[in-house]
Amino acid sequence: MKVLVVGGGGREHALVWKIAQSPRVSRIYCAPGNAGISQLAECVNIKANDISSLKKFALEERIDLTVVGPEAPLIEGIVDEFSQAGLRVFGPNRNAAQLEGSKALAKHFMAKYNIPTASYAAFSNEKEAMDYVREKGGPLVVKASGLAAGKGVIVCQHTADALDAVRRVIVDKEFGEAGSQVVIEEYLEGEEVSILAFTDGKTIVPMIPAQDHKRVFDNDKGPNTGGMGAYAPAPLYTPELHQVVVKEILEPTVKGMTEMGWPFKGVLYAGLMVTKDGPRVLEYNVRFGDPEAQPLLSLLDTDLVDIMEAVIDERLDQLDVKWKDGASVCVIMSAPGYPGNYPKGDVITGLDKVPEDITVFHAGTALENGNFVTNGGRVLGVTAVAADIPGAIDRAYQGVKKINFNGAHYRSDIGQKALKDR
Ligand code: AMP
Ligand code: GLY
Repeated sequence: MKVLVVGGGGREHALVWKIAQSPRVSRIYCAPGNAGISQLAECVNIKANDISSLKKFALEERIDLTVVGPEAPLIEGIVDEFSQAGLRVFGPNRNAAQLEGSKALAKHFMAKYNIPTASYAAFSNEKEAMDYVREKGGPLVVKASGLAAGKGVIVCQHTADALDAVRRVIVDKEFGEAGSQVVIEEYLEGEEVSILAFTDGKTIVPMIPAQDHKRVFDNDKGPNTGGMGAYAPAPLYTPELHQVVVKEILEPTVKGMTEMGWPFKGVLYAGLMVTKDGPRVLEYNVRFGDPEAQPLLSLLDTDLVDIMEAVIDERLDQLDVKWKDGASVCVIMSAPGYPGNYPKGDVITGLDKVPEDITVFHAGTALENGNFVTNGGRVLGVTAVAADIPGAIDRAYQGVKKINFNGAHYRSDIGQKALKDR
């Protein structure tokens, strides 16, 4: 089989790494890929959202399966385009992907199907939004409804901050067109967990629970990022909680999407806040998380290509998806200044010193004169598997310590919440 992976970050490196282990796969392409990915796949210089060029390439190369990493091409309809051209592709179609593409739509959907989430209102009018903020009072969370690359969410402790946030989103258009609608939510307190599931629109196969670390500095300080590290499984997600999440969140979501005429096929990701009153959906994503994919795929035992084909053919009920014992931790090494401005082109040293049992997934790297250099905000995801979380934390940081580049930054507390939750 020839497989094409779309995207070029750490998640896509993990996808390529896992797909490369399938005995059924003879050749892997990745568009656009990165320097790490180029060691396992042939990188093709096409951007992840250039759907027509990707389709042309997939047809010419007779690709048997295309796997889409990031949300943007899904929301733009890559799955519809590929399917119409007779190409097999893993991921939700354009309509189903709006669950991530529009936060307002996701909230309306959850309200309609009684899926637990923060109470909210959505506005495209400044004055109405401001009046709502004044009526509710802080703390509140203000969100640009559209895609804003993981930014676009402003947690506001006080009413005045929320008024200012509404202005930033809807008047100053700080997040561009994503802010033509603003969602204002009740502020929820609790601990976050990421529940991802494979689904073919009928059967739901939840993955093991993962936890991301969104803030840039230790102890959840500093601005939000795409994610500074992740681990799985997350012990806060007990079997009792799992029952509730399946019954009250995953099942009604998949059923509701089918009822709406938007059957969901692919990876459904529910970002949850576990509050004292139970789990609440913070957001849906329509693809693997980055960096959650790195620990999750490190622990997935079943052939990923078999799972993806079962999803496409709607026979997921016939597959037994297995996970390895133990735990996995991924520590992101980022460029200095990320998530703000950061330098590129700094030489990365020590990759060859990392012990073989540790996997370094590349997120933002390039090859220059035979050297790996930094080429993005998130640069590497150093990922280890061990018998338990403390062991995996230890091992991942042993890997991190071998690697260096100018101003390399990483959090030193990835996975620590799991120790507290045990
Ligand atoms: P989102 O992109 O919607 O997941 O939001 C990004 C982050 O903002 C989440 O991971 C939470 O840490 C925080 N957040 C979002 N919505 C809420 C909420 N209603 N209450 C508290 N924190 C929130
Ligand atoms: N790690 C969060 C995300 O992928 O959206």
